Amino acid sequence: MSKAARAAKAVEDLSADEAAAELARLAALIAQHDRLYHEQDAPMISDADYDALRQRNEAIEARFPELQRADSPSLKVGAAPAAGFGKVQHSIPMLSLGNAFAPEDVDEFLARIRRFLGLDDGEALEVMAEPKIDGLSCALRYEDGELVQGATRGDGTTGEEITANVRTIADLPQKLKGKGWPEVLEVRGEVYMSRHDFAALNKRQEEAGAKVFANPRNAAAGSLRQLDPKITAERPLHFFGYAWGQVSAPLGATVTEARDRLQSWGFSLNEPSALCNGRDDLLAYYEKIMAERAELPFEIDGVVYKVNRLDLQERLGFVSRAPRWAIAHKFPAERAETKLNAITIQVGRTGALTPVANLEPISVGGVVVARATLHNEDEIARKDVREGDHVIIQRAGDVIPQVVSAVLAKRPKNSKHYVFPTTCPCPLATPVVRPKGEVVARCSGGLECPHQQVRQLMHFVSRNAFDIEGLGVENIQEFWDAGLIKAPADIFRLRDHREAILERERWAEQSVANLLQAIEDRRRIGLDRFVYALGIRQIGEATAKLLARSYGDFAGLRTAMIAAEKERAAAAEARKPEEVGETYAELCNIEGIGMSMADDLVGFFGEDHNLAVLNDLAGELTIEAVAAPATSDSPVAGKTVVFTGSLQTMTRSEAKAKAESLGAKVAGSVSKKTDYVVIGADAGSKAKKAEALGLTMLSEEEWQNLIG
Ligand code: IVH
Repeated sequence: MSKAARAAKAVEDLSADEAAAELARLAALIAQHDRLYHEQDAPMISDADYDALRQRNEAIEARFPELQRADSPSLKVGAAPAAGFGKVQHSIPMLSLGNAFAPEDVDEFLARIRRFLGLDDGEALEVMAEPKIDGLSCALRYEDGELVQGATRGDGTTGEEITANVRTIADLPQKLKGKGWPEVLEVRGEVYMSRHDFAALNKRQEEAGAKVFANPRNAAAGSLRQLDPKITAERPLHFFGYAWGQVSAPLGATVTEARDRLQSWGFSLNEPSALCNGRDDLLAYYEKIMAERAELPFEIDGVVYKVNRLDLQERLGFVSRAPRWAIAHKFPAERAETKLNAITIQVGRTGALTPVANLEPISVGGVVVARATLHNEDEIARKDVREGDHVIIQRAGDVIPQVVSAVLAKRPKNSKHYVFPTTCPCPLATPVVRPKGEVVARCSGGLECPHQQVRQLMHFVSRNAFDIEGLGVENIQEFWDAGLIKAPADIFRLRDHREAILERERWAEQSVANLLQAIEDRRRIGLDRFVYALGIRQIGEATAKLLARSYGDFAGLRTAMIAAEKERAAAAEARKPEEVGETYAELCNIEGIGMSMADDLVGFFGEDHNLAVLNDLAGELTIEAVAAPATSDSPVAGKTVVFTGSLQTMTRSEAKAKAESLGAKVAGSVSKKTDYVVIGADAGSKAKKAEALGLTMLSEEEWQNLIG
């Protein structure tokens, strides 16, 4: 049957085969009209005719639901706006990149790679260099060549489901071109807006009295994360593919090959790129791109270097949230001059007092800045920055803007040195202490200080901690001021204060319902996030993960920490601090946890006040044991391993990274809890101790065989 004849046929009369063909025709046709309408402002058919096409598509889908296409127009623009974004669990975490600012950082990056891989100076190491796009990272999943899912990075583990939105991006293939793509292909890259489109959008927004965006990055993010994909469709977004997540078959042996293939399947690549060899090559590329920066049609904030060979990338792996095989080389910060109106003191969650410059708002590199950090008392003195001065401020990437210097020529005549306060700005006005040799002044009020309490709560709900949607910094302050929350557990009792919240300005049935639901959604939490959320000094995300992995569940962790604190206190009492007990030693034996961290940690569990807060909180929550790492079926998963002596087939760091990736714990010293001791050449005292304890000792080869 001809296309025209089929198009004229009533829906009820279509066979399944005809229906499938008709759905394909309608999807392509409607997509074409969408583009004409949304992007080119040049519709070719009347609204009524357009609606008729959509209705026909929907009628066929209603009769043959199993034939609905992944790129069906009914899933795209015009779909009912969702109540919120769904969540997507990333199959492989979406990480960020470490930063280099100076040539020495690039040297260190290359040296670290060479050390890790044990490469000789003579051996070449090819590195791909690409522009670093300032946009929004995004993952696109293709199955059998069809785009089936789009997701934002989110916290790296869980992102937002934005499939309907990404479908509206014109230069991204809805269906892969060419051939040879893996059945499952998750392409990662950056959604961005060109400078030109950004300026035009802002002009339109301004004319319509709508929100004006600070920079192309914000505009791209604001446009992509729209609950109504119709709005996304109206925004000129683009996509560069530069990485990948889950793939059912490798994309090649090198980044070069993978890029070529991505391009052949219909993706745009971030250019100009260059395959470099050695630091001079990389630095020349950096200079060249910096010089061309202003002429590029999109904003970049640096360049990215990636080890070209994918097998080497695999060996190098990741550390914490960033790969060892890549780094972002950032462009220098942007600067501007403005007036410093006043210096105020901000109290952090651990009581640290940070002086903050309150500025006459000014745009720096496209972002309006009204506050900048002055770091600490000594920095203010060193720079002699005074209230009323004109100052130079700078902003680099996402970091907090800083005050660089005062403009002395413009200093008012009667200006005075800034005097650092001796009491905390909180109502308790507790004395400020600054231990000898330390730069940080702290409020001595501990958790009695209301400023610290509020900051703790803000940290508690922050993105990498409890991440409660709709409960941001302002709301915490608001509920705190209203006396609705004092301690973390109170957040989970907010549901008892529904009426009180409803009475407040800006809160309505729906927003309160959303908030309470978001809170309920977090009653279950992984032990690692929970530990991080506690805001213990020095215990960041990576350490919280280590602890969660080492102790398994909350009860185990708490018991161990309390015991370790008792041991430490007893040793101190006996004036033999070096004779700490076994639990404390075990804690320090976790690779990545030093004495000073251990002290802050057990110190936290040593305070009754903290234990009361913890118990109260634990009563409201289900704290989940952290799942063992992905490859928990490895025979070494959960085992404690010590490497000693010099290894032949891999460097010590590589051995450690490999063991950890298989779920093993790598310890620095041998104890009776050690499962395996891997003995390299010229092993010394550790090997002797292992022998004395009767531990399992393996040669390097036996270890390799064990892990396969
Ligand atoms: S590669 C494992 N290449 O910069 C991470 N990232 O600051 C692989 N970005 O999260 C990322 N341009 O969103 C890569 N050419 C490029 C990039 C790029 C921009 C973003 C990306 C990343 C962030 C880190």
